[in-house]
Amino acid sequence: MKLVMIGSGYVGLVSGACFADFGHEVICVDKDEAKIAALQAGVIPIYEPGLDHLVASGAGAGRLKFTTDIGAAVAGADAVFIAVGTPSRRGDGHADMVYVHAATREIASALTGFTVVVNKSTVPVGTGDEVERLIREVNPDADYAVISNPEFLREGAAIDDFKRPDRVVIGGHDERGLAVMREIYRPLALGRSPVIEMSRRGAELTKYAGNAFLATKITFINEIADLCEKVGADVQEVARGIGLDNRIGSKFLHAGPGYGGSCFPKDTLALLKTADDYDAPVRIVEAVVAVNDRRKRAMGRKVIDAVGGDVRGKTIAVLGLAFKPNTDDMRDSPAIAVIQTLQDAGAIIHAFDPKSMDQARLVLHDVAYFDDAYVAMTGADALVIATEWDEFRALDLRRVKALLREPVLVDLRNIYPRDAVEAIGLAYTAVGR
Ligand code: UDX
Repeated sequence: MKLVMIGSGYVGLVSGACFADFGHEVICVDKDEAKIAALQAGVIPIYEPGLDHLVASGAGAGRLKFTTDIGAAVAGADAVFIAVGTPSRRGDGHADMVYVHAATREIASALTGFTVVVNKSTVPVGTGDEVERLIREVNPDADYAVISNPEFLREGAAIDDFKRPDRVVIGGHDERGLAVMREIYRPLALGRSPVIEMSRRGAELTKYAGNAFLATKITFINEIADLCEKVGADVQEVARGIGLDNRIGSKFLHAGPGYGGSCFPKDTLALLKTADDYDAPVRIVEAVVAVNDRRKRAMGRKVIDAVGGDVRGKTIAVLGLAFKPNTDDMRDSPAIAVIQTLQDAGAIIHAFDPKSMDQARLVLHDVAYFDDAYVAMTGADALVIATEWDEFRALDLRRVKALLREPVLVDLRNIYPRDAVEAIGLAYTAVGR
């Protein structure tokens, strides 16, 4: 199949590289000339494990190409995927559709022969109808079908998620369009990943409902963690205790500093906006958003409490800045609010992250960045683990204690056993334990 990805950001690039790996011919398009030039030269603009190899092998095999010329790419394609950003619109949290609409217009005028226009961007319910209408308006003679095909990729594990998904959701009723989609995803049938078909609106809502549910699950266990601290229970035991119930499931029950990233914060807000527009409030999600927002700064106050209630003039070393491990993505990372809360209270911040420091410098100012975890913590009054990178899971705790001015470890990701840390003489604060 000849496939085109419009937008060579996270979703477009990962999907394009994986489709090329399946054996399809893929052209990734982007307006950003520098990004396309870099990709043509084999430079990947984001950090995602395995993506560089996948892009190199697809490009080497001649199945993965990059261009800024949307018209040439779209002409003759079997399917064109819209994979542009839908950021939260300033002011009301609604997903900003300007990029989707602009891409749709450009696709419309370049269509030749029957083409499936696939929406992969996370878009409000009804966007498929709007895309269909826009194409007809721009190019009344076009022969096309509009299908919704939301992505469920986790950053840091995106390639595995793409190749071995829990499910693929395809929304739409156009039989010609569905036939093309089945062919595109046929390689997944070998791995027995279910490819489920439903209405276009159902598919659009599935994406939001899925992310909102996961955000709710995290927020639920975070509040239970707070309760654990008050009643003297351990949230990890409670999470295991409830998670073994198959109806609940053990994933996404890790208590921590609150969810961040490119999806949960923006998609929960967008769902609230849609619910509001349709006068069908989703109160649980309203609570989730409010609780999670509040939590991030509360984690900063937890650190302040751990060092005795006053951080003015004290140095706090923070390990991990990205919103989760294996990514350089800083979007809505809880580490930002934690650090800003500490800075507001007068702390000096030393920080280290294996991949995200370039991104962090853009959002976090007045932070001393170090290239090594141990150097970052030298002479600090407390060490905070804000992101659970593997390399922070096995720190030499004796060395940590020797390097810190005060022996205080705040583990916001619950990656250490309390006994082992305390045995070494470090004061240990975790979440919900
Ligand atoms: C998420 C969804 O998982 C994915 O399906 C969707 O397509 C995009 O959004 P992602 O944002 O990459 O993926 O990361 P994810 O692993 O889901 O984590 C999101 C946030 O929740 C992170 O801040 C993470 O630290 C937090 N989290 C996750 C927890 O605090 N506890 C958990 O148990 C799981």
